[in-house]
Amino acid sequence: MKFFIDTANLDEIQEAYDLGVLDGVTTNPSLMAKEGITGQDNILAHYKKICDIVDNNVSAEVIATDYETMMKEAHVLAKIDDKIVVKVPMIKDGIKTIKALSSEGIRTNCTLIFNAGQALLAAKAGASYVSPFIGRLDDISVDGLQLIEQIVHIYGNYPELQTEVLAASVRHNMHLIHCAEIGADVATCPLKVITGLLKHPLTDSGLAQFLADHSKGN
Ligand code: E4P
Repeated sequence: MKFFIDTANLDEIQEAYDLGVLDGVTTNPSLMAKEGITGQDNILAHYKKICDIVDNNVSAEVIATDYETMMKEAHVLAKIDDKIVVKVPMIKDGIKTIKALSSEGIRTNCTLIFNAGQALLAAKAGASYVSPFIGRLDDISVDGLQLIEQIVHIYGNYPELQTEVLAASVRHNMHLIHCAEIGADVATCPLKVITGLLKHPLTDSGLAQFLADHSKGN
């Protein structure tokens, strides 16, 4: 399973990368705004900084919602670095954009997926990744993990579909563990969810005991 970090914060990306387990980064317009990154030039420069930290898979989202402008934006984003994956929303023109970009060999991440039909359509269009938002489904009392299970099952029926299931809007460690059990290809989550995997109170108390016992004998 690949781990992506879901942030535009360079320090957090560096920290996750330094841990040695990071496979990519996802951003969205809200995450960029949260870091105070505004204006076309600053946004493109920020994506480049992210690409300079990680080895691959940096999702950069288009802002337009019509086919022609999305294609123009996608080409600008894809030129930043080979590591860029163009993130395109699940709308009609988004599907056309994904199909065209996929024919050009530009990788895409179809975002804002909330049901299996959308995931199937994005895969048919040739998306490299689909991003079902499990936390946002949970927020409206719909089981987000069940959607991941359904998409993994459907894609499994058709091995010719190359699209990877990228579980997004992951809010806590159990989301991540369940995604791994289900067989999601990727999970993108905040740094605290990745570092949260380190934690267990018995690890802390066990280590404290080991070190205390060692110091008694020395
Ligand atoms: C995915 O690519 C999105 O950026 C993200 O996972 C959304 O998460 P949120 O629902 O916590 O905003």
